[in-house]
Amino acid sequence: MEKQENRSRRSFLKWFGFYTFLAAIAAQFAAIIRFMMPNGLVKPPHVIKLGPPQIYSQGVTLVENAPVFIFRRDHTFYAMSTICTHLGCTVNEIHKDVTNEAPASVEFDCPCHGSRYDENGINMSGPAPKPLPRFRLFLAAEDGQLTVDLQETVQRDFRLIL
Ligand code: FES
Repeated sequence: MEKQENRSRRSFLKWFGFYTFLAAIAAQFAAIIRFMMPNGLVKPPHVIKLGPPQIYSQGVTLVENAPVFIFRRDHTFYAMSTICTHLGCTVNEIHKDVTNEAPASVEFDCPCHGSRYDENGINMSGPAPKPLPRFRLFLAAEDGQLTVDLQETVQRDFRLIL
């Protein structure tokens, strides 16, 4: 009788240990899967309002809340990316030929690996493989703000004329 009880307890402990081990492995696996999942997928908006067109002075303006330069020549506007086409650093604008009579011509310089772009965003030197893209620029119907769509690139000759 005592032997049978021992065998039954041993059998219970053996199965209990086995299922506990399986549960621990499953919990570890679940933790690994959960670790690989992001906590949230927050995508920044791709359509961004940039304010009324009047606030933009002649020449190039770096926009604070979007990765774009706004170019203005009188009543003509266009938007060009600030993201280097090599590995995605933000390019800096360099003003050349600064005079008081005419707007300075500008070039763009990437601080990461030295790519340079001319004032049209065409890559001139360095590892950048292609020009800086231009984005669709339009006036928002509801409030007349200059608005850029970062997912819609346009041809280099695109202009918004107001
Ligand atoms: S990221 Fe601009 S040159 Fe490499």
